[in-house]
Amino acid sequence: MTTLLNALPQANFNSKLDLAWVRSQFPSLSRTINGQHAAFLDGPGGTQVTQSVIDAISHYLNTSNANTHGQYATSHETDEIIDGARSAMADFLGCDPAETVFGPNMTTLTFAISRSIGRELRPGDEILLTQLDHSANVSPWQVLDERGVKIQFVDIREEDCTLDMDDLARKLSSRTKVVAVGYASNAVGTINDMKKIIRMAHDAGALACIDAVHYAPHGFIDVGDLDCDFLACSTYKFFGPHMGVLYGKREHLERFHPYKVRPNTDEVPGRWEMGTLNHECLAGITACVDYLAELGRRTSKADSRTTDDVRRTTRRDSLYSGYRAIQFHEHELSLRMLRGLAEIPGLRLYGISDPARVAERCPTFGIRIEGHHPAELARQLGERGIFTWDGNYYALNLTERLGVEQDGGLLRIGFVHYNTEEEVDRVLAELGSLA
Ligand SMILES: Cc1ncc(COP(=O)(O)O)c(C=O)c1O
Repeated sequence: MTTLLNALPQANFNSKLDLAWVRSQFPSLSRTINGQHAAFLDGPGGTQVTQSVIDAISHYLNTSNANTHGQYATSHETDEIIDGARSAMADFLGCDPAETVFGPNMTTLTFAISRSIGRELRPGDEILLTQLDHSANVSPWQVLDERGVKIQFVDIREEDCTLDMDDLARKLSSRTKVVAVGYASNAVGTINDMKKIIRMAHDAGALACIDAVHYAPHGFIDVGDLDCDFLACSTYKFFGPHMGVLYGKREHLERFHPYKVRPNTDEVPGRWEMGTLNHECLAGITACVDYLAELGRRTSKADSRTTDDVRRTTRRDSLYSGYRAIQFHEHELSLRMLRGLAEIPGLRLYGISDPARVAERCPTFGIRIEGHHPAELARQLGERGIFTWDGNYYALNLTERLGVEQDGGLLRIGFVHYNTEEEVDRVLAELGSLA
């Protein structure tokens, strides 16, 4: 656990999630399909949004729609919306607002930094990637082989889909300039030992670039404690609108040279943002971070806190409390799911299956059932109002490495904090009847 986290007022903490309140915040959760409640088990592909996010987006379009830095009211309001989203994401990530860069999605932002870092690489330099990662944290780096850079891949341990740390240590050397690795796998749920990997990268003199897209809805992020150089995530994966956010250490955002248009200034972080941002979505990002903080406030025991305690509690403290509650709930869902999956004949779970290791995985389950194509399973579940995904979800190296790519990849069942134990039981029952 990190130093910052230890400093937080944990004695006042009640980690039980107020699930009824949580679900009431997401209007889409009340949808029905063929007379059944929709079960949104597609969070890894994109989560649902709160009414507050929807309201913030439409409020911006209704009242403040303008471009930036103009000499009139709606333009000033737009500037404030952008500043507000930057400080929300700074609280979310544990950094300075000037270290948060916005873009259309994580992939675009990662291509932006890989191109800029790539400008400084020479033939003989190396980049270390992993077989576990989403292609968005692979291809932007892999294309640098056109500069003569050697690309290496850390293998996985097939039995539990964790990174082979010995292989990582073997492939890391003073030639390695970048280690790009995911915080958590969007295909099989593995959470990597980020602090260890970042320390190893730095000891070798390499930059550590982290893809936190899959981790962000499940765990509290502290870029200071991680000491990563860059970290990217996507707000649409953690209950906000479709946008991407990049953290970069200030020294890197200042030192590396982005490809940018001439009128754009050299100020950070703006020099990394290309063209006009999606202002309405930025309004939605602040609302989404505020929702997670409110969730945290509601899980702290108000009655055990003095007025001074409440006043001292920052949005970041509340985010921490919120994620503690999220993790507590998600662990319960994972344990139930692991127990149930183990009882379905012919079912193979790819990834960590030991309930004692539940803290090492997200509630994201990649499975196959003997004799059933994943797309067919997803279709049948979809007809019953259960939304899952099938294929490789761009974790293409992984499905190839596991030898399932040519047979339809995996069926992915992904839970987030708004999912319920009833939904776990429901998908288990349906899988059991389909098996
Ligand atoms: C782990 C992971 N990384 C990166 C991405 C790409 O994110 P974006 O759609 O914001 O480019 C995804 C999207 O599914 C993902 O799951």
